[in-house]
Amino acid sequence: MIVKTTRQRRNPVDGKFSVNGIYICFRVENKLDDFSSGRDKPSPKEKSSKSSPRRSKKGERHDLTRTSLTLYYNTEREVNTMRVLAFVNQKGGVAKTTSALNIGAALAIEGKSVLLVDLDPQGSLSKCAGFRSLDDDPTTYEVIKGDADINQAIKTKQGVKPYDVLPTDIRMSGAEIELISVPGRDTLLKEALDGLEKAYDYVLIDCSPSLNILTLMALTASNKIIIPVAAQYMPLDGMAQLLPTVELVKKRLNKGLAIGGVLITMYDSRRSMDKGIIEAINGRFTDETFNTIIKNNSKIAEAPTYGKDIFEYAPKSAGADAYRAVAKEIIEREG
Ligand SMILES: Nc1ncnc2c1ncn2[C@@H]1O[C@H](COP(=O)(O)OP(=O)(O)OP(=O)(O)O)[C@@H](O)[C@H]1O
Ligand SMILES: [Mg+2]
Repeated sequence: MIVKTTRQRRNPVDGKFSVNGIYICFRVENKLDDFSSGRDKPSPKEKSSKSSPRRSKKGERHDLTRTSLTLYYNTEREVNTMRVLAFVNQKGGVAKTTSALNIGAALAIEGKSVLLVDLDPQGSLSKCAGFRSLDDDPTTYEVIKGDADINQAIKTKQGVKPYDVLPTDIRMSGAEIELISVPGRDTLLKEALDGLEKAYDYVLIDCSPSLNILTLMALTASNKIIIPVAAQYMPLDGMAQLLPTVELVKKRLNKGLAIGGVLITMYDSRRSMDKGIIEAINGRFTDETFNTIIKNNSKIAEAPTYGKDIFEYAPKSAGADAYRAVAKEIIEREG
């Protein structure tokens, strides 16, 4: 048996295991069925060899010394160094997408390698990042269905510093119904992320405003959740559903899942109600709430119209300063 090792990770692989936190993937070349299909027939001499004869189901003789096992490893891609953060809140319009995009862009400016995953059939994150028309390009939808390689579907956004986006569009809207009877559907996104060739520091997942199958997939694939809450709503009401779901996922699907932060967004200091809401959130999530509060800011609202993040559109705005500060807090917490 020949064993080759290579640094590059390839798809598809036949299996994988981890040693000291490093993924080792393997691929078996010249498998028994390659012989039986006639693609790599043993020579007459090999046929008569008695070195390692083995009988297949069809009664053919194969020489296992001709089987090569190729190990792919990637020393940069240690299992625990990629932080996967899901932006979740089933309440709509609380700045999940805006925060995922702008925090992702800020992390890239801070020198981190970033992948943004659009898991919302509305495709808002993709559009905000400037990927408006995806035509027949593969999207998150094809990736989770196993019809496309995640590495082929990723696009690069040339922001102030580049970052990657796994885009989606309305095609994703069929996913929930299509996946309902697929066994192990909760782990489909996690498995797709396991196939990433690039070693990202951060993967940020933008979820839809619902606790549906897609959101469960995100929770299963993530280390932490970031909960954006808009100061103008009574946000703790919405959490009454979210927190039990997180507990359920922790129990059944992803033991390591934790709350990575609660981010107060769309704050308006002129509204007296907003102050009360901040106190309520800080009281309930004392350790988790970010020190930075994202205030209402017209530049933040305008940037998506141009397919730009806040650092491309208005780098000197208060909105850019705020998202830069949150990204720094995330780096302090997560590394
Ligand atoms: N700090 C802010 N100041 C002003 N407008 C903002 C701010 N943050 C977000 N917005 C605007 O609020 C709207 C909702 O934001 P966003 O789409 O990010 O919310 P969401 O939680 O992702 O919504 P959905 O639940 O529909 O996915 C958008 O029009 C966005 O531009
Ligand atoms: Mg959104």
